[in-house]
Amino acid sequence: MPKPLGLKILGTGHYVPERVLNNQYFIDRLDTTDEWIRERTGILERRIAAPHESSATMATAAARAALADAGLTPHDIDLIIVATITPECYFPSTACFVQESLGMRPTPSFDLLAACSGFIYALVTAAHMLQSGVYRRILVIGAETMTRITDYEDRATCILFGDGAAAVVLEKCDDPNGPSLLYHQICAEGSGPTVLTVPAGGARLPASLMTVNERLHYIKMAGREVYKVAVKRNIELVDETLRATGIRPEDLAIVIPHQSNLRIIESARERLGLPQERFFTNIQKYGNTSAASIPLGLDECLKTGRVGRGDLVMLIAFGAGYTWASALLRI
Ligand code: COA
Repeated sequence: MPKPLGLKILGTGHYVPERVLNNQYFIDRLDTTDEWIRERTGILERRIAAPHESSATMATAAARAALADAGLTPHDIDLIIVATITPECYFPSTACFVQESLGMRPTPSFDLLAACSGFIYALVTAAHMLQSGVYRRILVIGAETMTRITDYEDRATCILFGDGAAAVVLEKCDDPNGPSLLYHQICAEGSGPTVLTVPAGGARLPASLMTVNERLHYIKMAGREVYKVAVKRNIELVDETLRATGIRPEDLAIVIPHQSNLRIIESARERLGLPQERFFTNIQKYGNTSAASIPLGLDECLKTGRVGRGDLVMLIAFGAGYTWASALLRI
């Protein structure tokens, strides 16, 4: 079992675009119904970025909010990690755009790609880097403009995704009884290119007239297959995290799962036997925002007082790759 890593959340913040896409938007354009979307996914609405917005602009806004919450300025940050699957461009990294927009002195900045598990991967990476003593404060951001890679002609995927960003400012904590990353698990198992991917635009299948005509720059997903694996992995993550730490479900203040589908979340909640109020959901209003979904949840739980100092919070995520991850935080 990994040893606890002293880790304090100094501040959190988020940004979501103003424009809301409700289910009616899809009903007006596709062969679908409000009942189908609600019952199969739990989603009522999601946010969509304005033309002038992108992953870096939203990440920057979320970072500013987190820094203000922490009472810090960009100059207090030693390193930036942006978890995203919708970067500004091939290169440079979205983190470099954020670093520049925040007006920071030269600061190590990089992106991390682990799809919907990206935020937990980035949190764990940051926690280990803080332990080295080289970095004092790290800004970890999950930022996605999913609607730019969503095919609005594919009714099975376009209803699922939304845009947003959220950020946390982290510092090492030396008090063994203080805030801590008590347990973490990150893992991946390659599933090949067919299950959940954006097939074109990379080195494997560069952009061409054919890839554009065949809509290969959009998300392709074998939904039913992903669903089954997601349910199985989420339950395993919960079981393993509890077993490894000896924590009982009733000791948890809240579980913040990646918001992929309300039914996937419910299966993990039932496994824990926790009441709905101790299992965070915001998929109803944001849809699946990939790497942004867990920090959006964390920020909301901290700001609304659902979580406070000393509380135990479990984060779980599953995503394309496949990747999966869990973290147990003492706030
Ligand atoms: N409205 C109405 N019908 C729809 C629809 C929509 N928006 N989208 C798909 N359908 C239809 C399908 O065409 C299919 O019709 P058929 O039986 O005539 O072939 C039927 O509904 C069932 O499709 P299926 O894909 O089996 O539905 P499902 O119950 O698995 O739900 C998802 C689809 C996408 C909601 C579900 O599979 C899912 O959530 N998968 C995981 C998604 C996910 O978490 N992805 C990210 C990983 S982090």
